[in-house]
Amino acid sequence: MCGIFAVIGSREVSPLLIDGLRKLEYRGYDSAGIATIDNFNKDQIEKLNVTKSKGKLIHLSNLIKKKPPKGHVGIAHTRWATHGKPNEINAHPHLDSSGQIAVVQNGIIENYRDLSESLKTKGIKLTSETDTEIIPHLIGLEIEKSLANGLSSNEQTFLKAVQKVLTLLEGTYSIAVIWSQVPNAIVVAMEQAPLVIGFGEGEFFCASDTPALVGFTSTFLPLRDHEIALLTPLGIELYDNEGNRQHRSPSLLKGTQLLADKRNFRHFMLKEIYEQPETAQQWIDRFLPMDLSSGNSVALPISKSTLEKIEQIQILACGTSRHAGMVGSYLLEQFSGVPTKVYFASEFRYAPPPLSPNTLTIGVSQSGETADTLAALRMEKERRGATKDANYAFHQLGITNRVDSSFGRELDNVIDIGSGIEIGVAATKTFLGQMLSFYGLTILFASHRKKRTPQEILDLSNDLRLIPKQLTDLIKKHDSLSKEIAHLFAETKDVIFLGRGINYPIALEGALKLKEISYIHAQGYPAGELKHGPIALLDQHVPVVSVAVPGVVYEKVLSNSQEAKARDARLIGVSTNGPESEMFDELFTIPKVTEWVSPLLTVVPLQLFSYHIAAHKGLDVDQPRNLAKSVTVE
Ligand code: AGP
Repeated sequence: MCGIFAVIGSREVSPLLIDGLRKLEYRGYDSAGIATIDNFNKDQIEKLNVTKSKGKLIHLSNLIKKKPPKGHVGIAHTRWATHGKPNEINAHPHLDSSGQIAVVQNGIIENYRDLSESLKTKGIKLTSETDTEIIPHLIGLEIEKSLANGLSSNEQTFLKAVQKVLTLLEGTYSIAVIWSQVPNAIVVAMEQAPLVIGFGEGEFFCASDTPALVGFTSTFLPLRDHEIALLTPLGIELYDNEGNRQHRSPSLLKGTQLLADKRNFRHFMLKEIYEQPETAQQWIDRFLPMDLSSGNSVALPISKSTLEKIEQIQILACGTSRHAGMVGSYLLEQFSGVPTKVYFASEFRYAPPPLSPNTLTIGVSQSGETADTLAALRMEKERRGATKDANYAFHQLGITNRVDSSFGRELDNVIDIGSGIEIGVAATKTFLGQMLSFYGLTILFASHRKKRTPQEILDLSNDLRLIPKQLTDLIKKHDSLSKEIAHLFAETKDVIFLGRGINYPIALEGALKLKEISYIHAQGYPAGELKHGPIALLDQHVPVVSVAVPGVVYEKVLSNSQEAKARDARLIGVSTNGPESEMFDELFTIPKVTEWVSPLLTVVPLQLFSYHIAAHKGLDVDQPRNLAKSVTVE
């Protein structure tokens, strides 16, 4: 979603701002802009230079190359449209009426309508459709008041004006502000939308996410909720929302926080698909090592007392993370015997189930910043806290790829899936890492509850240990095959994905991947549901992808697939090789594994299939239209 990058120092900042924005491109955006303060011009008049452009960063970068805006202080933004179309007027930065104050914002100002009405009564004309534009105007009015009261145009006046305006704003947001009359300062603030400060040599940075800092500095400090900071070329002043000065030591970027490069792959998504054996191996080395001490089935951060108390589990997540949660729920119920429910985080917050006792709440999010998931978790914490009954206490666990995120900061226990940074908007290797974490939890609960024999648990662990090698073979085998098959289906308008049991979430994930990056309409169904409605859609133009793995529902899925074939649908199978698989027009074979571990493999051909269709169509695979990597608004 929107990305903020800001720099203050002694270098010309416009190329740095573009560089920073480029590293935030993966978040998804549809317009971009920068503002710098030019205080070294020949007229000795400090003025703001603002350059904005609709569409990809290359357009902004070309404008800047033609006419480089001068200045050693600047703010920059990639916008993912929420209020108002993606066009140049709505692109950030936004200015106040005097044209001296510029603001970029990530998030949503929920009370912007009321605030803009009150601005209109003061004669202020808003020029954009955004919720952000009210902020520079409000800051402008505050500064006017301060100056009228005899304060001078200095950093403290600037800081205090922004502080005052923050008390008027409702919503989740982060902002960066510059004022041309105080050309050596940037004020930044955050309210539930992440912002980090980077410490360079003689310069300071501010960004929505750590990858933007790579190449500039490896020392950073994440802002906390309600904090505001003043950045000058001499240092940083950090305050809480009551104006108390805060002191914290910065952290160092870890390898996984560094921006990956594409190596020789055409797209990040393909590279990330290829990285899955490594994701799996690293997960196994960390959580399922051969030398686990006796009594420990898996090395996950769950205390024995929590394991003893928990009677049921609820999983909150969105999109692909929710699909991982669904695989987890199947495993936790069917293998470990723990009643488990999965919720859309966005629905849970406004329609939570009645409180259940001794419940573990698991939030799943690769980014750790998804606003819907965070809001649902916060709501659950609050309502459980309000009961004051120990049986309803908030037992929490996060599963994320970004421990340096709000998830990491807000949740007491977090499993770091450690997949390494994922740039492609379509989640692939992080989905695998999330599923693996649920396998770990499954083993933990099954052994603790003595639901399974030690042999059954050992068998599952050993099957998991084979996954990295099987993934390597599978990717090698199916990359070129899926490329060939993708060519046959590139013009298709609708695709149905079928799966049952533990592979039903994989059908959903296959459909989501195809929709996201190829813009082909796709729908996943539990295979048994086909005859209850969706079958009416089928003819020779609507292919059906069927995930059919030997196990409890194998025969059933095959029969459901036959029903589709009888309606002339072209059948694509993800299945083991055998006489039954002859029914498929195209077949992605997977090795003969137990049904339990099959989702870790069946998803791979579906990722490759979607990838090759999108790449064949020449689409922007890594940054599909309208999508964002971190969905930081509800
Ligand atoms: C995955 O391919 C999607 N981009 C999307 O569904 C994503 O999984 C969802 O927005 C949740 O994101 P999170 O895992 O960062 O919370």
